[in-house]
Amino acid sequence: MTDTLLQMNHITKTFPGVVALDDVSLTVERGTVHALMGENGAGKSTLMKCLFGIYREDSGEILLDAHPVVINSAKQALDLGISMIHQEPHPVRFRSVAENVWLGRFPQLIPGVVNHRKMREMTQELFKRVDLDIDPDTTAGELSASVFQLVEIAKAISYDAKIIIMDEPTSSLTEAEVGHLFEIINRLRDEGIAIIYISHKMEEILKIADEVTIMRDGKRVGTWPASELTTDLIINRMVGRELTNRFPPRHERRSDEVVLKVEGLTATSPRSFTDVSFELRKGEILGIGGLVGAQRTELVEAIFGLRGIASGTIYKDGQVIRNDSPKTSKKHGIALLTEERRATGIIPMLSVCDNTVIANARRYARGFVISEVQRHEAAEQEVRDLRIKTPSTDTEIADLSGGNQQKVLVGRWLLTDPEILILDEPTRGIDVGAKYEIYTLIQNLTRQGKSIIMISSEMPELLGVSDRIMVMCEGRVAGFLNDPSEFSQVEVMRLATSFMTQQSEKEAA
Ligand SMILES: Nc1ncnc2c1ncn2[C@@H]1O[C@H](COP(=O)(O)OP(=O)(O)OP(=O)(O)O)[C@@H](O)[C@H]1O
Ligand SMILES: [Mg+2]
Repeated sequence: MTDTLLQMNHITKTFPGVVALDDVSLTVERGTVHALMGENGAGKSTLMKCLFGIYREDSGEILLDAHPVVINSAKQALDLGISMIHQEPHPVRFRSVAENVWLGRFPQLIPGVVNHRKMREMTQELFKRVDLDIDPDTTAGELSASVFQLVEIAKAISYDAKIIIMDEPTSSLTEAEVGHLFEIINRLRDEGIAIIYISHKMEEILKIADEVTIMRDGKRVGTWPASELTTDLIINRMVGRELTNRFPPRHERRSDEVVLKVEGLTATSPRSFTDVSFELRKGEILGIGGLVGAQRTELVEAIFGLRGIASGTIYKDGQVIRNDSPKTSKKHGIALLTEERRATGIIPMLSVCDNTVIANARRYARGFVISEVQRHEAAEQEVRDLRIKTPSTDTEIADLSGGNQQKVLVGRWLLTDPEILILDEPTRGIDVGAKYEIYTLIQNLTRQGKSIIMISSEMPELLGVSDRIMVMCEGRVAGFLNDPSEFSQVEVMRLATSFMTQQSEKEAA
């Protein structure tokens, strides 16, 4: 028996130069998880922003419980029982977690006076519902992106919503946190709530979704029960062409030359990484696996000169180097694509072209004149290679879809042509087709003798792209997998939790 909660009929929405939605319809049943899939720029977020009152559709209608509704603001959406977790959450960093959750609706003692005790209790109660162990008084700025994402989820639930839209909720979560989120989703589904779930991760969709709607170029391709779909079917319907492999073939590494050697590296801050040693060879891709808290990002930031080192040595081509700033690292031919590039990477007012070439402006400078032609050529090339969906390279980057912004930033670092490129979660938020393009570009770099360090929390990517894998656990190196033939998810997970098990065994004893 079906029990329809939401119908979006014939929705059309255009932006200057782009038809974002072209006659799209979507029907969502009560108590189900409905996945929305499609390549970067397919129109997923735009459709959801129409539902949440951020955009007003040009034409079409929305029915809630069979009644037509007009949604002109997020507040109206929330009043109607629709809440949304955004692709890019922006916590008010100096405010407490509790204040972030109840912003705009603080409980009051008397009008104008906030009842802090009540707010703290409400937050605790809410967090209990979703098994979150965070002190409501913590300042939001102290939380990592992934933990704040869980807070955002709790906040969405707090509106007593009938429909919760989750736009790539797991893009900054690790596998363990994803498991936690799925428990919450299953509970919400049992309570009769409908969840609209956007993700690029096939494995997740097949695990959690009841129904899947696939979009392509602003149109709806179709809707299917998840049980009738496979990864290959989804990919084919998403990209509209055959995509036989998800990973390009590995480049045969022939050199044993060590370009970067790290010995006994220990962070200045006490709860970070300790005694990390590894070697990076010319033309290889060294993957770094691990769970949240493994200190992988901290490690590469220290190597890049963004964090202090208490002891240990870094050798570049056999010479000791001291990277005390990103500038010296760049001089040594090391580049870093950071994990939180949405927050730190893009320059929203600038165009796609400016954002692409900014790390590399000097290459396009002749005397004091920057060659416009060359800049644009470089940017156009990048747009083609990575299939970035944008009306032109002069479009403001903020108008691109989330995934396409990511591609611009990846392109920026690929353009700088460094000897050693460190990539922190390089394909987060990027669709399968474009992932393949990025892997191909990475493989091409190794073919030219460049070396890559790649942090990845996506298991298939870590296993499918790396030549060797170093697994970290709680700030220490837990082990290496030295040959693709011995790569397995089980082995990575075993190493990623190895010290933790020892510790809990100790505690149990
Ligand atoms: N505010 C805006 N102004 C102009 N164009 C926009 C705006 N928002 C979205 N677009 C365009 O509409 C199209 C659909 O974008 P949308 O964000 O819905 O994609 P998406 O499916 O969510 O992609 P992703 O997987 O990358 O998040 C894209 O071509 C995008 O550039
Ligand atoms: Mg989106």
